[in-house]
Amino acid sequence: MSTSQDLWNDVDAYFTTLLAPADEVLTAALRDSDAAGLPAINVAPNQGKLLQLFAQLQGARRILEIGTLGGYSTIWLGRALPADGRLITLEYDARHAEVARRNLERADLHRITEVRVGPALESLPKLAEEHPEPFDLVFIDADKANNPHYIEWALKLTRPGSLIVLDNVVRGGQVTDAGSEDPSVRGTRAALELIAAHPRLSGTAVQTVGSKGHDGFALARVVAA
Ligand SMILES: C[S@@+](CC[C@H](N)C(=O)[O-])C[C@H]1O[C@@H](n2cnc3c(N)ncnc32)[C@H](O)[C@@H]1O
Repeated sequence: MSTSQDLWNDVDAYFTTLLAPADEVLTAALRDSDAAGLPAINVAPNQGKLLQLFAQLQGARRILEIGTLGGYSTIWLGRALPADGRLITLEYDARHAEVARRNLERADLHRITEVRVGPALESLPKLAEEHPEPFDLVFIDADKANNPHYIEWALKLTRPGSLIVLDNVVRGGQVTDAGSEDPSVRGTRAALELIAAHPRLSGTAVQTVGSKGHDGFALARVVAA
């Protein structure tokens, strides 16, 4: 008898083959990330396509990503941008960033994407000092303990109507544990509570199953104060 995970894999394989098929660039991005020893913690293909659709629905011209890894989600998002669009992605690990830059070059997205290396909580204030045009979409997928800080920064760097996507909010179901001492659970709960309480945010969260197991994401729309 197949396990739930086998079933979720089969359904994801069907959806992905039909609706989010890999091309050479995406396949090579994952292959080279794996060869360089990066962990396989990228979004699934159908999740990447969902991010791309969110960006297109936003009419996004400017995207901020926190947590690049090998640039797999960056490629999905970058492909939603117009030729004069801009995507800035923040990555702590210089080795990950190097792999991502090569993958983005192969994807012919290197002119409109920029990988900035360092702890995101150092990169974000520097970015704010540049007074960039507001970002239309922010995808948060880095160290979960800092999720509330990333939501606060996203608010500073966006405009009413912008969309914030926060990944991996289920934490194996531990997100419901108010007494958890796991920093990722605590950070995710604090971010969700911030979204719930903040007068400039309207959000929800959805749990999912699929090739990445039982997971979920939160969406928050920036609204006028
Ligand atoms: C889940 S992976 C990102 C996956 C990527 N978004 C994708 O789907 O292809 C998280 C990434 O965040 C990076 N990271 C962790 N802590 C960070 C920090 N404080 N600042 C910036 N990046 C960080 C990790 O090195 C890792 O590459």
